[in-house]
Amino acid sequence: MNHFLDIHTTDKAQLRGIIDQAGAMKTARAGRPKGAADDETPLAGRMVALIFEKPSTRTRVSFDVGVRQMGGQTMVLSGNDMQLGHGETIADTARVLSRYVDMIMIRTFDEAVLQEMAEFADVPVINGLTDRTHPCQIMADVMTYEEHRGPIAGKKVVWCGDGNNVCASFLHAAAQFDFDLTFTGPMQLDPEMEFVGLARNAGRSVVIERDPVKAVEGADLVVADTWVSMHDAQSARERRHNMLRPYQVDAALMSHAKPDALFMHCLPAHRGEEVTSEVMDGPQSVIFDEAENRLHAQKAVMRWCLNV
Ligand code: CP
Ligand code: NVA
Repeated sequence: MNHFLDIHTTDKAQLRGIIDQAGAMKTARAGRPKGAADDETPLAGRMVALIFEKPSTRTRVSFDVGVRQMGGQTMVLSGNDMQLGHGETIADTARVLSRYVDMIMIRTFDEAVLQEMAEFADVPVINGLTDRTHPCQIMADVMTYEEHRGPIAGKKVVWCGDGNNVCASFLHAAAQFDFDLTFTGPMQLDPEMEFVGLARNAGRSVVIERDPVKAVEGADLVVADTWVSMHDAQSARERRHNMLRPYQVDAALMSHAKPDALFMHCLPAHRGEEVTSEVMDGPQSVIFDEAENRLHAQKAVMRWCLNV
C-alpha cells in the first residue's frame, strides 16, 4: 500500500507510471456515460472515505465519480461533522477509520493533519489539498499539458501571482517531471524557498522575476490561481489584490508567451481578477481539460495507492 501525500515524496518513475495509466484509462472509457463502470473494476468491494475540512467542487466530485467508475463505494465526510472537529485526535480518527474503509482522501488546512493521518492509518491516505500543497491537481495538469503538447520535460512553465499551495506542487513537479519554472509575483508572496531549492537541487531552473512581461517571454505554459486561497484571511483580501493586480493574466500578457503556449488554472477562478475571461475562454486555455483530468489522474493515483 502507498500513501499519495506529495509529488516530491513519490518516486519519479512511479509518478510517470501513474500519468501513463491515467491516459490509458481515459482512452479506454471514451464516449461512455459518466456513470458507467470501467471494463476493469479494481475497486470492487472497496470503500473510500472522502474527508473535507474545506469546500470543494472538483476534488469532491472527481474522487466520488472515479471510485464508482472503478467499482468502489464512497462516503463523503465533512470535517465539522466528525469528532475530528471536536477534539478527537487525528491519530485516533485514522485508526478508527482504518477499521471501516479501504482508503482515505483528505482535504485539510494544516499539513500536519495529513501527515498524522498517514502515520496512523493502516490504509492509504491521499492529499486532496492542504494549505501547503495540492499534488492531485498537478498530476492532472502534467497529464493535460502532455495531451496537448507532448512531453513537459524541458518546457518553461510560468506561475503568475501568489506562490501558494498549487504553486508549491508545481515546483515539486518541476523536479520530478524535469521542467523549468519561472515565478512572477510580489516578493511578499514568493513560493517557499525550501521548494524552490528542491527543484533547483534536482537540476531544474527556477527563476524569480518581478516583471510579468519578462517572465512570460518564451513560456510554454502560463498558470494562474486565485489571489485569496481558502486558508488566507479574508481581512487580507484588499491588500493581496493590490499587490497582485499587476500579475493578472490577460491577452496582452499571454501575447509575450510562445504562440502555442497553453493557459492553465486549477479553478475555481475569479474572472476579471487573476485572469480575464478572454484568456479563460480563449484558444490557449485548457482549464476544463484540467478539471476533467482530475478524474482520470486520481483514478490512477488510487490504483497505485492500493496496488490494484
Ligand atoms: N481545483 C480544485 O481542487 O477544485 P475544488 O476546490 O473545487 O476541489
Ligand atoms: N489555492 C487555492 C486552490 C483551490 C483549489 C486554495 O487553496 O484555495
